[in-house]
Amino acid sequence: MQIFVAGATGLTGRAVVAQACAAGHAVVAHVRPDSGRLGEWTTRFEGLGATVSSAPWSPEGMAAALAQHRPSHVFSLLGTTRKRMAREGGDYQSVDFGLTRLLIDAAVAAGGIERFVYLSAEGVKPGTRNAYLKARVDAEAHLAASGLPWTAARPSFILGDRDEARAGERYGAALADGALGLAGLLGGRRLRARYQSTTNEILAAALLRIAADPACVDQVVRSEGLRA
Ligand SMILES: NC(=O)c1ccc[n+]([C@@H]2O[C@H](COP(=O)([O-])OP(=O)(O)OC[C@H]3O[C@@H](n4cnc5c(N)ncnc54)[C@H](OP(=O)(O)O)[C@@H]3O)[C@@H](O)[C@H]2O)c1
Repeated sequence: MQIFVAGATGLTGRAVVAQACAAGHAVVAHVRPDSGRLGEWTTRFEGLGATVSSAPWSPEGMAAALAQHRPSHVFSLLGTTRKRMAREGGDYQSVDFGLTRLLIDAAVAAGGIERFVYLSAEGVKPGTRNAYLKARVDAEAHLAASGLPWTAARPSFILGDRDEARAGERYGAALADGALGLAGLLGGRRLRARYQSTTNEILAAALLRIAADPACVDQVVRSEGLRA
């Protein structure tokens, strides 16, 4: 695969870049141009064998990057957080949906895309009043209407080595996993398979697997399909 990864510096993105490089795919890791760690990420990703793009997050900038690198597979693995919003502005609608829509539109314009993989989240359902989930409902809908071959992945909590502490995510996952362990003992195995946390490494392997799987074209893959 010729892979373009948006959100490459994230917990999931960095694992996808590393695993895709190790598997011998040609990888372009996108790092936003205003990242304070652009040099550090460039060294790290180039060390793995990836090419780094720091194309601007504009329709023209992203279209030019895709036209230059001609990926067969585009991965959209980005999203903001409350901490990032407080630091740099934006919200789930403008970042999580807005940038994903921009990337989808750029991929349509570039042509030649065999699969667009979108990292969504468990809990997405139409009509939700939760802003985080609504951004994902909108992104999934835009992707499904784009004409691109697509796959949306909906994991539950993702754990791994973060650069910053996210107590909410850790405790949320621990609580959910504890309750689900009990549910599993009581026979709720399907419930446990759906909502149990995963790791960025397991998820990255699953994303690369579903990206290459013809059975996953135009499909949503939920947690149980994203396990090792
Ligand atoms: N973490 C979870 O438990 C979980 C569970 C289910 C679904 N998800 C979803 O999966 C996706 C990836 O999650 P993750 O935990 O791997 O991500 P993450 O570690 O929070 O990384 C997010 C990525 O998005 C980029 N980004 C954030 N705001 C941006 C902006 N304004 N402009 C451009 N780039 C921006 C970040 O770039 P910088 O590094 O430059 O900031 C980073 O590459 C997100 O949509 C998330 O909501 C997460």
